[in-house]
Amino acid sequence: MSESPLPIPVARTVAQVRETVHAWRAGGERVALVPTMGALHAGHISLITLARTQAERVVASVFVNPTQFGPNEDFAAYPRDEAGDAAKLAEAGCDLMFAPTVEEVYPAGAATIVHVSGVSEPLDGAARPGHFDGVATVVSKLFNMVGPDVAVFGEKDYQQLQVIRRFTADLNLPVEIVGAPTLRAEDGLALSSRNAYLTAAERAVAPALQQTLRRAAERLRAGDRVDEVETEALGTLRAAGFGPVDYVEARGAGDLARLGPGPLGGEPARLLAAARLGRTRLIDNLAV
Ligand code: PAF
Repeated sequence: MSESPLPIPVARTVAQVRETVHAWRAGGERVALVPTMGALHAGHISLITLARTQAERVVASVFVNPTQFGPNEDFAAYPRDEAGDAAKLAEAGCDLMFAPTVEEVYPAGAATIVHVSGVSEPLDGAARPGHFDGVATVVSKLFNMVGPDVAVFGEKDYQQLQVIRRFTADLNLPVEIVGAPTLRAEDGLALSSRNAYLTAAERAVAPALQQTLRRAAERLRAGDRVDEVETEALGTLRAAGFGPVDYVEARGAGDLARLGPGPLGGEPARLLAAARLGRTRLIDNLAV
């Protein structure tokens, strides 16, 4: 473990995190991992709180993963606050912060990516080419580096959660995946590190994303046609000031497959949306 003035033990290398986790597991303790990119807010802390109900020990990784950002995305500008993150993790009862360097995660010569077909292809997969390859690669590496029994991810990134469930099953990784409900501000806006980019005027408009999904979910539950509900939701978002809207769609809840245009059948569905407000891209989703 590295000597650190931070209020929580910090591992910087794979060897350090493994040593600690192996010692815990040798003592019969279950270990939970909460992968994050830092800039922690109450939504992340709710993941730590949930993780503490799943295991005796909780590791939070803080790593802004370059491979999941496109060339024109906000990797360089992504908010970073290691001291603040460490304080929040310590207060939340997290046992270890794993904060590796880019070189530790991707040593020179690294040439392997994890690509998930199907569920990673539509929606954010189409809007952000390569994004889910980066997510699947880094999360599978984190699983192998840390060796947790269970890992907790927010439902806010619903497609990401389904991608992670898919490759964990496909690669027989011995990690239980737990999804955590989205934490929202009082006005309904889903908490996100990227909300920090919103101007005051944009922040006032932002809850319309969640309100639009709620209205769409009500209509779908009432038996309205999927195509009509999606068209109305798109118009509502544009009228509220969002643009461009990457998608607002109802999909199968498990595999995110496209649904027929008519009223929903009996199968579980999920509404998902991604739209830009100024320079900020917001995503949200809702169970139908
Ligand atoms: O959801 C995130 O913060 C990231 O995509 C994750 C899962 C930590 C992988 O970098």
